[in-house]
Amino acid sequence: MIELYINGTKYMIDVDPMTPLLWVIREQVGLTGTKFGCGIAQCGACTVHVNGKSVRSCITPVKAAVGNNVTTIEGITSADGEPHPIQKAWLTEQVPQCGYCQSGQMMTAVELLNQISSPTDSDIDTAMSGVICRCGTYGRIRKGIKTAALAMRSNAEVPDDG
Ligand code: FES
Ligand code: FES
Repeated sequence: MIELYINGTKYMIDVDPMTPLLWVIREQVGLTGTKFGCGIAQCGACTVHVNGKSVRSCITPVKAAVGNNVTTIEGITSADGEPHPIQKAWLTEQVPQCGYCQSGQMMTAVELLNQISSPTDSDIDTAMSGVICRCGTYGRIRKGIKTAALAMRSNAEVPDDG
């Protein structure tokens, strides 16, 4: 049995330790927001966070996630159902076209915004460069990241009147 923590929930999974984390997330746990694209770490569609860092779950053996916190696209929504600012921005800016790559795009963008609160175009291009969108939504992705960054900075600046 493999013990996993995904989006704050503990799972006991009976699976070969070398099984890709992606398959465990999708097939054993049933969280299908994370997508299979290339299967060889080239597209980023399968991106999830392990302890806050982006990993390509298609090539990450599930045993590498034992004892660590895995976050998927479903897990960035708050416990009370409030979408993450990146999810709101993706809607505001109408970022997706077919949508297939977009959970990987958003997970990568969240990591960027956790590191850089006001990313430049260059920061965005560097961070997002390995996440492929076959529909070519890169311009809207950049816009969405800036919209989310602004919202996150504004949230951080809300005075505590308690
Ligand atoms: S499916 Fe993992 S990088 Fe493409
Ligand atoms: S929106 Fe279609 S692949 Fe990115």
